[in-house]
Amino acid sequence: MNRSLAVRLAWMFALAALTIFLLVGVALHHVLSSELGYHEAAELATRMEVIQHLVSRTTTLEKWLRVHEKLDALAPGDASTRVWALSRDPLFEYGDAPGTLRTRLLSARGLDQMVLSPDRPPYRILARTVPAAGERPEVRLVVALDTARFRATMHVFALALLLLCSLGVAAVAGLGYWIARVGLGPLNRLSEEARQIRPVNLSQRLATDRCPTELTHMAAAFNGALDRLEDAYTQLQSFNADVAHELRTPLTNLIGQTQVALSKERSAPDLEDVLQSNLEELNRLRTIVNDMLFLARADQGAAAANAVPTPLVPEIRKTVEFMEFVLDDVGMKVRIEGEARAAVDASLFGRAVTNLLQNAVQYSSPGAELVVRVEQDARGARVAVSNPGAPIPPEHLERLFDRFYRIDESRGNSGENHGLGLSIVKAVAAMHNGAVFAHSAGNMNTVGFTISEAA
Ligand SMILES: Nc1ncnc2c1ncn2[C@@H]1O[C@H](COP(=O)(O)OP(=O)(O)O)[C@@H](O)[C@H]1O
Ligand SMILES: [Mg+2]
Repeated sequence: MNRSLAVRLAWMFALAALTIFLLVGVALHHVLSSELGYHEAAELATRMEVIQHLVSRTTTLEKWLRVHEKLDALAPGDASTRVWALSRDPLFEYGDAPGTLRTRLLSARGLDQMVLSPDRPPYRILARTVPAAGERPEVRLVVALDTARFRATMHVFALALLLLCSLGVAAVAGLGYWIARVGLGPLNRLSEEARQIRPVNLSQRLATDRCPTELTHMAAAFNGALDRLEDAYTQLQSFNADVAHELRTPLTNLIGQTQVALSKERSAPDLEDVLQSNLEELNRLRTIVNDMLFLARADQGAAAANAVPTPLVPEIRKTVEFMEFVLDDVGMKVRIEGEARAAVDASLFGRAVTNLLQNAVQYSSPGAELVVRVEQDARGARVAVSNPGAPIPPEHLERLFDRFYRIDESRGNSGENHGLGLSIVKAVAAMHNGAVFAHSAGNMNTVGFTISEAA
């Protein structure tokens, strides 16, 4: 769900506050209720004390009549306190207790609660027995206290508590929202910074030093993504320029030759020569376009579909045989060392080895001996082609596999060299989960690739 983080946090704050307020409210309610109950019981006990004292001293009927007056004074007319004295002798009684009420009052044991009239809340009552003395028989005393006040207090308290809780929860939610908004400020700043990044200022990065620690990881990850994107973007930009540049030369040649041919009447053999030359340029164009298509497919993640476990040395030997004429021309020999097996697509593998050998032939002097070293390693196989030649400076080494990259630009547009050979080796390695490497030591230059079994 697409809800704001601040709103979410505010809800959580409110929920936490509600829980706490409810717990505290229930506890307070409980404390107040038992405290009030304790006070009522104490009040009942005090009254009982006075009445018990009065009754226990009364031993004659004459005195009992005076007790009546005193009890009348003790129990106010609003019925908030009521007193009964019950005994076997109707003369020694006090208070109006008809039928069932009398039996219920007599059944009361100590401190109790009892409904005395259906339209009023229950009374809290206390009952005690005063033993017989003189003419007076044993008397059961019952004092009752109306709990209406208690209930009213608790009711008001509960209402106040509910109101305060609601206000508290609302306040916490509001404050929580504000806190979340302020706390999330850095996130908004980051978003704003990210919004400003365009292709023209792709080298700009999010400022991680001013970020709260929780956000530095995210900002760093974002910056990392930008790094990769910038690399890819720059590469693509220069690739486009390079493609245009590469295609322009053959096209210019084609147009030039054709215009010259058309400028005057030509004999059939002359025209044939022009067409022959044009065909060479067209073939060159086709090679570049085919290579670019191959690289584009590899970029889209094409993997070697027909990879089967293959002994690599026989495959390399086949490639060398294909190149026999070229090698003989320059008087070079190829030595194959080692042995390995790996799952490869034979035609892709052959293409990569051909490119490496072509370079080795091209960038070393006639009569040189070329070495192809094949090694089995823990993850797969490794193929390295070495040839004697002038050392390659390190700054070039790491760029050899870039598209259209050539150390010597002047050789660029001669014949077969359009600078995609090693890019294709790299793509073939990637299609086999492998990588490429190049090093230059002494007067030996080594370029190669690995093949990995891991999918
Ligand atoms: N064996 C090698 N010895 C020296 N330089 C090499 C070797 N292989 C490749 N290079 C350098 O790497 C560049 C890129 O090679 P490649 O992609 O095959 O393009 P191309 O051969 O068409 O120039 C070459 O132009 C060359 O400068
Ligand atoms: Mg090449």
